[in-house]
Amino acid sequence: MKVSIFSSKSYDEEFLRKFNAVFGHELVFIENRLTAETALFAEGSLAVCAFVNDVLDRSTLEKLAQGGCRFIALRCAGYNNVDLAAAKSLSLLVARVPAYSPYAVAEHAVALLLCLNRHIHKAYNRVREGNFSIDGLIGHDVHGKTIGVVGTGIIGSIFARIMRGFGCEVLAHDVNPNTECVQLGVRYVALDELFARSHAISLHCPLMPETHHLIGEKTFALMHDGIFIVNTSRGALINTEAAITAIKSGRLGGLALDVYEEESGLFFEDRSISIIQDDVFMRLTTFPNVLVTGHQAFFTHEAMENIAKTTLANLADFEAGRSCANLVK
Ligand code: NAI
Repeated sequence: MKVSIFSSKSYDEEFLRKFNAVFGHELVFIENRLTAETALFAEGSLAVCAFVNDVLDRSTLEKLAQGGCRFIALRCAGYNNVDLAAAKSLSLLVARVPAYSPYAVAEHAVALLLCLNRHIHKAYNRVREGNFSIDGLIGHDVHGKTIGVVGTGIIGSIFARIMRGFGCEVLAHDVNPNTECVQLGVRYVALDELFARSHAISLHCPLMPETHHLIGEKTFALMHDGIFIVNTSRGALINTEAAITAIKSGRLGGLALDVYEEESGLFFEDRSISIIQDDVFMRLTTFPNVLVTGHQAFFTHEAMENIAKTTLANLADFEAGRSCANLVK
């Protein structure tokens, strides 16, 4: 089956080609992001493979359907970038990779928290420049602190377990509390209590209308000064402008992001010799207590292997007319 793979990077090609030997799909690698304008590149492909910043809105989906596409294989877990109602009306099936390595993302969230707390990003640069002063690099013990986890699904529950291992009190909020977390000693509380009591908060819930700008002006008002926030989930969970105000006032003591609400025009490309036009993002990067990675939390060998295998298997299920367990309903 011919499959057009959008937003393709060398590492996608490497892993997908390696495991496709078993499946034998005809893979066409396209570097462009999938948008209504680029959808025509998929003409003649029965399936399309897309990633987190591809735009799968109604107009893109209509063009894909017109070009003969019937199946969309997301090579990611989140599907907030897909207009599912439009896909359904066009009889397009959408599948995803629900869990490729939850450890990769949870461990990256922990790494960001530790780096931010102990100013490792600053220390790294200082030492390289021969500056061995430790002035300003003081952190806190993580042990004994209260950590808030919003969303205790597959990734959030692993993050919570790691934090329990550090000797933290873990408060959580989820619309469906996780019994495994309760057994670990995690305490489920209302969001307001979580915001008010946590020294650091890590976000692991999906982006949906109810969670859009979950962290904003009103929620910062509930938190105590110096709180750390880590977001490895989706950028628009945080109102970035409100976060900038909270950093300037000292309410927000540290912000670590692997995702950013306007990341789609920035991330996954080398823009080091471009003039970046996003003033909000550039303001963020001027703060010493803001740490940004470019949506790499998932990026481990294990995760890439699982993404490739599951994506190719989802495509094979569709081709064979089998029911696919990873369809997005
Ligand atoms: P999951 O579906 O296992 O867990 C999400 C949890 O959020 C569920 O327990 C759900 O009940 C909860 N939830 C839903 N609505 C909520 C609300 N309004 N308030 C609080 N909790 C709510 O998802 P998983 O695999 O743990 O992934 C979490 C997020 O991580 C994904 O939505 C995705 O956006 C992001 N992600 C980021 C990656 C990266 O590389 N940075 C890679 C993979 C996922």
